[in-house]
Amino acid sequence: MKKLVIAAVLATVSLSASAADTIRFAMEASYPPFEFVDSSNQIQGFDVDLANAMCKEMQATCTFTNQAFDSLIPSLKFRRFDAVISGMDITPEREKQVSFTNAYYDNSAIFIAHSGQFADVAALKGKRVGMQNGTTHQKYLMDKHPEITAVPYDSYQNAVLDLKNGRLDAVFGDTAVVNEWLKQNKNLSAVGDKITDPTYFGTGLGVAVRQNNTELLTKLNDALAKVKADGTYKTLYSKWFQQ
Ligand code: ARG
Repeated sequence: MKKLVIAAVLATVSLSASAADTIRFAMEASYPPFEFVDSSNQIQGFDVDLANAMCKEMQATCTFTNQAFDSLIPSLKFRRFDAVISGMDITPEREKQVSFTNAYYDNSAIFIAHSGQFADVAALKGKRVGMQNGTTHQKYLMDKHPEITAVPYDSYQNAVLDLKNGRLDAVFGDTAVVNEWLKQNKNLSAVGDKITDPTYFGTGLGVAVRQNNTELLTKLNDALAKVKADGTYKTLYSKWFQQ
């Protein structure tokens, strides 16, 4: 009898220990509204809020690390953290290396430049177009537009800065993020239409985990479904994306 009580106590202890699981997320946080570092040095944004909401469902603690976009998948594979949430497209190429949750956001890509300068994407021939290293935009430009000079940057913020001060002719990025830049820079506008080639831009944004980590993948997918069903997702979406 005494043994049973002890076993029960131990079970409770180990239950609460797993309830306090920590999930280490990583992202490249110069990508508002998905992720950015605020004035008090905290990482904020839609991805952070969504991850926190999922962690609440999973009764886990979330931590967030900010690092270069092109190092996220290699570091995930090296177990430096457990998951990547970074406005990352679920692409067939990335799926060879990592597993993705169900999509949590629809995505497309678009070019921007100074208003009135370029009528269409064809007019960007021979021009300097910026994008972030390691992104789907970089691969698409190199494969589909060899006639364009692709200029890789560490962050989209620096690419947009160079577009504004004339060092670049255009920037190529995610439509949801581009919309933010257009709101803040009234003399910039879209060039051509949104591009949704699934081979390059995938089937939405997802959270990436290591390929053998099916336990975490299942937990994240369950949590995502709950967060979508109970209205939390909608609230967060309007907080960060409503025009
Ligand atoms: N959606 C693009 C991709 O998956 C760009 C994402 C960039 N994200 C970031 N946090 N900097 O390649």
